[in-house]
Amino acid sequence: MQFENKIICDGLLNKSLEVKMQKLIIYGPASLMGEIEVEGAKNAALPILTASILAQNKVIITNVPDIVDVKHTIEILKYLGCNVLFENNTVVVDSSSIGRFTIPPEYAKLMRSSVLFMGALLSKFRRVELSNHPGGCEIGQRPIDLHISAFRQLGIEVFENNNRIMCRCDRIKGSEIFLPIPSVGATENIILASIFCDGEVVIKNAAKEPEIVDLCHFLNKLGAKIKGAGTHIIKIEGVKRLNSEEVIHKVIPDRIVAGTYLCAVAACGKEVVLKSVFPRHLDSILHILKGSGCKIKESKNEIWIKKEGRLKGGLRITTHYYPGFPTDLQAPVCSAFAVASGVTIIKETIFENRFKHVPELVKMGADIHVEKDIAVINGVEKLRGCKVFARDLRGGAALFIAGLSAQGVTEVMDADYIDRGYEKIEEKYSLLGAKILREKGE
Ligand code: EPU
Repeated sequence: MQFENKIICDGLLNKSLEVKMQKLIIYGPASLMGEIEVEGAKNAALPILTASILAQNKVIITNVPDIVDVKHTIEILKYLGCNVLFENNTVVVDSSSIGRFTIPPEYAKLMRSSVLFMGALLSKFRRVELSNHPGGCEIGQRPIDLHISAFRQLGIEVFENNNRIMCRCDRIKGSEIFLPIPSVGATENIILASIFCDGEVVIKNAAKEPEIVDLCHFLNKLGAKIKGAGTHIIKIEGVKRLNSEEVIHKVIPDRIVAGTYLCAVAACGKEVVLKSVFPRHLDSILHILKGSGCKIKESKNEIWIKKEGRLKGGLRITTHYYPGFPTDLQAPVCSAFAVASGVTIIKETIFENRFKHVPELVKMGADIHVEKDIAVINGVEKLRGCKVFARDLRGGAALFIAGLSAQGVTEVMDADYIDRGYEKIEEKYSLLGAKILREKGE
C-alpha cells in the first residue's frame, strides 16, 4: 500500500466549506424494507485513531466509518507527521515520523474530539498545545474544565493564554481522579494521558460507554495496562513502553447509527434487519420501541424490527449516561414520536441546547413544545415535506427521518452536519427502498 502525507491546511478548510453546500432531497413517505450492515462507531473510531500515535509499530484499524469526522482526524494525524492510508473502511497509521505536538486552531475547531489529542500527545511528548475552543456540534457549552483539572491532578502544568492551552510535564504522576460527572471525553483524555504514568491512575466515576471499552481494548492490544473499562472505576497501571508488534483492531458497530435506523423504521413502518450490530449496546432504545408497538427480535449480531400501523406514544423518556437512554438518540426519537399516537415527553439531561431540530420539525407539521430541558410531543397523524435546516449532527439525522416519514418532498439543507457521523446516508436508506437525492444547496 502507498502512503501519502499531505499537509494542506487551506485545502482541508476549503473541503469543509464545499461539503457545507450539500442538501438531501427526500421523497416521502418511505416504507423501509430489507437488510443493512451497520457501520463502525464514529465515537470509538475517533479516539482509537487519536490513540494510534502512541503505537510502536504500524496499526491497522478496520470497520472505520467513511465519514467527515474520520477524514478530519486523519488530516490532523497527517499534520502531526504520521503516514496514514484510508481505504475500504480500513485505516493504516504509521506514527514513526510524528514530529509535532501542536494542534493549530483551524484543525482543533473541526470537531470536538480534537481535544483527545491532548492526552495522546502528552503521553507521547509530555507536551501539547491546542486551541481552548475545540469544535463540534453546538449542542451546549461543552467546557473542558474536567479535562484540565484532571491533567493538573496528574502533575501536568497547564497554561491558558490567547485562546491557547499549553500543557507540559516531566512525568505523569500516579493519582486518584474523581470525575464529578462521568464525562466521556474527560475519561478518554485521562486514559490517554496516563498510559506511561508512574504507578497507577485510578478514575472514579468514569464514563462506561461501549466506545470507551473499545478504546481500552485497542490500547491494551498496544501494550497498555488498563482494567475496569465499562465500569465506574478504571485503573491504568503505567508501563515503560508499548509492544513492538503490529496491531490490528476492528472498531465496534455504531449503536447510534443502528438506533437511527430503528427510529426510522418506527416512524415510517415495515421490516428491516440490521446486521453487524451489538444489540446489548442498544437496550434502552429497544426497550422504548418494544413498548411502543414495534416487533423486535435480537440475536448475537442482528436486530430484526417490524412496525405496522401507528407508533404508540405516551412515554416519558429521559436521556442519561450509558447504559441509560443516549442523548445522541434524543433527536431521532423525537422524529419517530412526532407521528406516534398520544403525548410523549422527552427530558434532555446531558446537553443544554439539544432541541434545535424541534422548530424544524414544527415547520413540517409536528406539534412539539420545548420548555427548558423538556420537549412535549403531541403526536400528529402525518408530517408534510418542506425545506428544513440541519443545525447539528443528530438533529440533522432527525430531520432526515422526518423527511422519510413525511408526505411529499423534504429538503434537508446543510447536510454536511449529517455527513460528520453517518456514512453515505442517502445510499444506505435507498437500499431499504427510500427515494433520496443529494444536491448542492443554494
Ligand atoms: N462537561 C463539562 N466539562 C467537561 C466535560 C464535559 O461540563 O470538561 C459536560 C458537557 O458540557 C456535557 C456533559 O458534561 O454537558 C457530558 O459531556 P461528555 O464529556 O460526556 O461528552 P463529550 O465527550 O463532549 C461525547 C460524544 C458525544 C456524546 C457525548 C455524551 C464523542 C466524540 N462525542 O461527547 O457525541 O453526545 O459524549 O454521550 O465521543 C455525537 O456523536 O453526536 C456526539 C455529540
